[in-house]
Amino acid sequence: MFPIQLINKPFLKKFREILKKNNYTFEHLLELGMNPFTVALYDLPILAYRNPHETSFGILFHLFFLGGVLERKIVNRLFLAGDIEELLRIKILEKNEDKFFKSLVTIIPYQSLYLVGDFILRLDGLSKRMKKREDLVYPASLDSVTLLETAVCKPVISTLDLGCGCGILSLIASKYSRFVIGIDINPRAVNFSRFNALLNNISNCQFICGDLYQPVENEKFDLILANPPYEITLEKTFLYKDGGRYGFQILQKIVEGASKHLNKGGICQVISRVGEFAADMKETLIKKWISDKNIRFSFQELSKMDIYQYAYAISTDKLILDEKVTDYRKYSQSIKKLLDHFNKIHLQNVLFGIITLQKKSGVFDSIRKFLVK
Ligand SMILES: C[S@@+](CC[C@H](N)C(=O)[O-])C[C@H]1O[C@@H](n2cnc3c(N)ncnc32)[C@H](O)[C@@H]1O
Repeated sequence: MFPIQLINKPFLKKFREILKKNNYTFEHLLELGMNPFTVALYDLPILAYRNPHETSFGILFHLFFLGGVLERKIVNRLFLAGDIEELLRIKILEKNEDKFFKSLVTIIPYQSLYLVGDFILRLDGLSKRMKKREDLVYPASLDSVTLLETAVCKPVISTLDLGCGCGILSLIASKYSRFVIGIDINPRAVNFSRFNALLNNISNCQFICGDLYQPVENEKFDLILANPPYEITLEKTFLYKDGGRYGFQILQKIVEGASKHLNKGGICQVISRVGEFAADMKETLIKKWISDKNIRFSFQELSKMDIYQYAYAISTDKLILDEKVTDYRKYSQSIKKLLDHFNKIHLQNVLFGIITLQKKSGVFDSIRKFLVK
């Protein structure tokens, strides 16, 4: 965990400048044809080969994107000895026998932000210790940015980010919201979000550890955003992904609580996978969770998979996250177990998309809107 109280803000500013000055930016990654949100494990050795650590950009890319291990003399080309000591102290870097360095966390550039999260993919594979942690902090990913690029981004007073992870939704929302509260059940995620707010010099976000709406029981917001854990899981894996046996364990609670926590005219937007079950297609399934007649519901479908495609999609980590690099037996067992389960729960398809819940406006909402401007 980052020692938040001991973080030296001027050093973080300097660190951010080093990243930027050496082209470790979202735009530059795109220029090089690397979308940080679509890279797969099997791409990493090729990316490493194409972007050697001979350049300053290459050093940053190897450390913070690929999770490579670099010799001290290479890291010294970019960072002064004092900076390296500071990066070790705040637990960004780790050293091995004073000779080799690696980053403990990935740093993903997005828009003007730098977002620190746990490595889910790493050039040399995740350590056993990391693979076993259920509290890995989800790094900035394709689903988070898809929500951000589709969400209603208008000026508001208050935003609530449920399951804030590394804080990406909160930190982007902080640009058009007067204040933001991010909540996560994982204390490591709260620590990462706080660190990312400091790293990006953002001061209108507060991060709290808790279970969904519980820390803000009596509060209402103009905007609620969430990218909840949504995979159908038969056993505990990671907090960021466990959606329970039907996949909607957390989604249902978010939808059910939205009305109580939205101001009139407020909007709740959630990106999620949603199952279509034989008896209940997604429309009726989600509508059943909404008891308030003043809530308007819509679902923007972005993609659809049948159960076979879905079983494949969520089993590939059995191939890449276990002891050996490929463990085909585990992968094969996982597919069978999942398909048996899908048939048992009458799952037909799995949709991916954005759920929008809007609370009807009241008479005083025009005054509120006026105040925000
Ligand atoms: C898929 S990650 C998304 C993180 C971040 N919002 C993003 O878009 O990158 C889901 C997050 O929800 C959190 N979470 C899971 N169950 C929760 C709960 N009951 N209350 C609050 N947060 C929860 C997880 O710890 C994880 O950080």
